[in-house]
Amino acid sequence: MHNVVISGTGLYTPANSISNDELVASFNAYVQQFNAENASAIERGEVDALTESSSAFIEKASGIKSRFVIDKAGILDPARMVPRIPERSNEQWGILCEMAIGAAQDALARAGKTAADIDGVIVACSNLQRAYPAVAIEVQAALGIQGFGYDMNVACSSATFGIQAAVNSVQLGQARAILMVNPEICTGHLNFRDRDSHFIFGDACTAVIIERADQATSAQQFDVLGTKLLTQFSNTIRNNFGFLNRAAEEGIGTRDKLFVQEGRKVFKDVCPMVAELIAAHLQENGLEVAQVKRFWLHQANLNMNLLIARKLLGRDAEPHEAPVILDTYANTSSAGSVIALHKNHEDLPSGSIGVLSSFGAGYSIGSVILRKR
Ligand SMILES: CC(C)(COP(=O)(O)OP(=O)(O)OC[C@H]1O[C@@H](n2cnc3c(N)ncnc32)[C@H](O)[C@@H]1OP(=O)(O)O)[C@@H](O)C(=O)NCCC(=O)NCCS
Repeated sequence: MHNVVISGTGLYTPANSISNDELVASFNAYVQQFNAENASAIERGEVDALTESSSAFIEKASGIKSRFVIDKAGILDPARMVPRIPERSNEQWGILCEMAIGAAQDALARAGKTAADIDGVIVACSNLQRAYPAVAIEVQAALGIQGFGYDMNVACSSATFGIQAAVNSVQLGQARAILMVNPEICTGHLNFRDRDSHFIFGDACTAVIIERADQATSAQQFDVLGTKLLTQFSNTIRNNFGFLNRAAEEGIGTRDKLFVQEGRKVFKDVCPMVAELIAAHLQENGLEVAQVKRFWLHQANLNMNLLIARKLLGRDAEPHEAPVILDTYANTSSAGSVIALHKNHEDLPSGSIGVLSSFGAGYSIGSVILRKR
């Protein structure tokens, strides 16, 4: 069995950002127009009037101040409220592949590797653009990587599950190095007309190079001390969009074909599960929570992260112990915890222990224990 390191991370951030105020102005314009158009039916009690959204609520309930998006104009147009991402010909690289290339090139450069050093590509994300061929094989072709590629989806936990799959391959000698990428266009499955969730998501892509420790040369490396995954079925976060929709015409275009959640229940269910999983994982590796210098947690909700850190540490975490990126990125699904790692690791001294953790739909939870080399 080979020892395995994370030797580089990469990030692709879309050029456009939407502030809470911009998002709320668009949502409220839609609400006003809907209520005006349905005034008589609302008066007769046949239709429920819609209620406006508020920037203050969004920041207080979630910690989110803005989000990066692939297309700003389509989302903010009150008559559309859907990103506009034109179709491309089969001869062009797809948009997920394009984001993946950006993040991958960043990660490869930081790891000091080229395509010739990589033996496999895993695309791990919440929403894949098409049924087939796998986006990973497209990324492989775009970067000129030999070997194999496959896609996997474990919603917000896709990256930690992808890291475990990559670690296994490298440990067993099936690959010298794996590129694991997380292209997330979360705005594509977000219902921007839903007041309860229209502010939740943003778009981004992350990449991680996982390779044999004895072949790693980069300045910033982390030993992977262990990975631990947990899934438990729940319907509280769900999206019923899929290839069988066309076989049930009555359901086409209904609300459940986009992201839906019971936010409060998710919050209550998931926080204790995550804290317990991380604590158990540390214990199995002979480590105390107090030894952990940094928690790179999934970035969905600031209050969730504060609570998880408090449950683990028995006190409030210092900002540097559980860094926050959701204030400017919002929830980027599987990319979130990797963005936190990418932007917050260079200051850690050699020997520092950190935990990368994801949680989300499934439920699915992942913990990866890292030690700075
Ligand atoms: C979604 C989330 C931010 C909502 O926060 P919350 O405090 O649970 O909010 P609630 O839905 O209970 O609503 C609380 C109040 O705010 C109101 N509210 C909801 N959306 C609002 C909006 N956009 N603007 C203003 N008020 C709003 C509600 O009407 C409700 O009012 P009431 O108390 O008068 O009934 C929070 O539940 C969450 O983040 N949960 C975890 C979600 C998660 O991580 N999911 C994983 C996704 S992969």
